Amino acid sequence: MRIILVGFGVVGKSVTTILARRYAEKVKDYGFNPKIVAIADIDGAVINPRGLSPEKLEAIKQRGFPISKDPDFGHPGMSALDVIESVEAEVVIEVTPVNIKNAEPALSHITKAFKTGKHVVTTNKGPLALAMPALTELADYNKVYLRFSGTVGGGTPMLEFAKRCLAGDKILAIRGILNGTTNYILTEMSQNRVTFQEALANAQKLGYAEREPSMDIDGFDTACKVVILANWIMNKKITLKDVDRTGIRDISLQALDEASNSGNTIKLIGSVDGGGRPTVKPTEIPKTDPLCVSGVLNAVTFSTEFAGEQTLVGRGAGGMETASAVLRDLLYIRQHLANKLLT
Ligand SMILES: NC(=O)c1ccc[n+]([C@@H]2O[C@H](COP(=O)([O-])OP(=O)(O)OC[C@H]3O[C@@H](n4cnc5c(N)ncnc54)[C@H](OP(=O)(O)O)[C@@H]3O)[C@@H](O)[C@H]2O)c1
Repeated sequence: MRIILVGFGVVGKSVTTILARRYAEKVKDYGFNPKIVAIADIDGAVINPRGLSPEKLEAIKQRGFPISKDPDFGHPGMSALDVIESVEAEVVIEVTPVNIKNAEPALSHITKAFKTGKHVVTTNKGPLALAMPALTELADYNKVYLRFSGTVGGGTPMLEFAKRCLAGDKILAIRGILNGTTNYILTEMSQNRVTFQEALANAQKLGYAEREPSMDIDGFDTACKVVILANWIMNKKITLKDVDRTGIRDISLQALDEASNSGNTIKLIGSVDGGGRPTVKPTEIPKTDPLCVSGVLNAVTFSTEFAGEQTLVGRGAGGMETASAVLRDLLYIRQHLANKLLT
């Protein structure tokens, strides 16, 4: 399988690491033989149809140079769009930064991949949050796969669990703690009695929160994940603007104390069910609720017609965790291509 990797940051580098580490066993178990033939980032690209050496590229990057400075295969200034258009490959892995204003550059990368007959694996929530119904339709139209396991739950297979393991049941509602940063902040506030601002500063110091934290603390990240869950699991045709969203900026220690006195705590919960609008909002839940996980953990509960409530808990982010979801998606595509299925 020839792969174009677009983005060589935390996730992109982890993808190359996991492909190298798992190479022998996946070739043996699945006949899966991945070859990265091009990598594009913001400065340019490296291309070798015989396969690239990611270690060499990482070394170039560590010395402070763009990977496109590779003396043998570098193409400084070449855009990812040109790479996708001109390089022969079966799959594009799109792992550029998220953008929820217009989903670019990822949206253009993904649509270009579809139009040139390439399957796409992405961990980028932006294009899905803003245009998931249109993108899945475009993928179907071009007879290619669009897979995005790493967008919800990092390496924890929340999307597959619901889609495949619960396929015999009907999912009536989904609610989850889908953002590790806000969960860390709320956990710090309730367990260590620090203010929102102090907890946010700690999260930033530990690298859990960005310097510009709005995406997390105002609930946008959770809302993107609710959109993906709602479309993929509950077949709703919605985008980000359809989600009612409230973040955690106004949560006070007093509110957490009051909740605690009734055996509850406050979590940022994203939810969607068969009826009303999907929502993201701080919600009081019992401390005994299986959803009530602490720190940066994520958790999601699927309420089903026959099997009752099923809760999945795991680490919702991290380079290698998310790369494991990318590998899962590549294996899915490999198996379905081998069986000539397009589902
Ligand atoms: N990190 C996680 O734990 C995690 C978990 C789940 C999902 N995600 C999602 O996965 C995606 C990647 O995350 P990340 O942490 O790897 O981000 P990152 O470290 O910021 O890496 C992004 C990469 O994309 C490149 N890039 C930026 N603009 C580009 C363009 N126009 N064309 C080509 N390449 C471009 C950057 O190049 P330069 O370095 O040259 O700027 C960089 O190599 C994001 O959408 C993120 O939300 C991340």
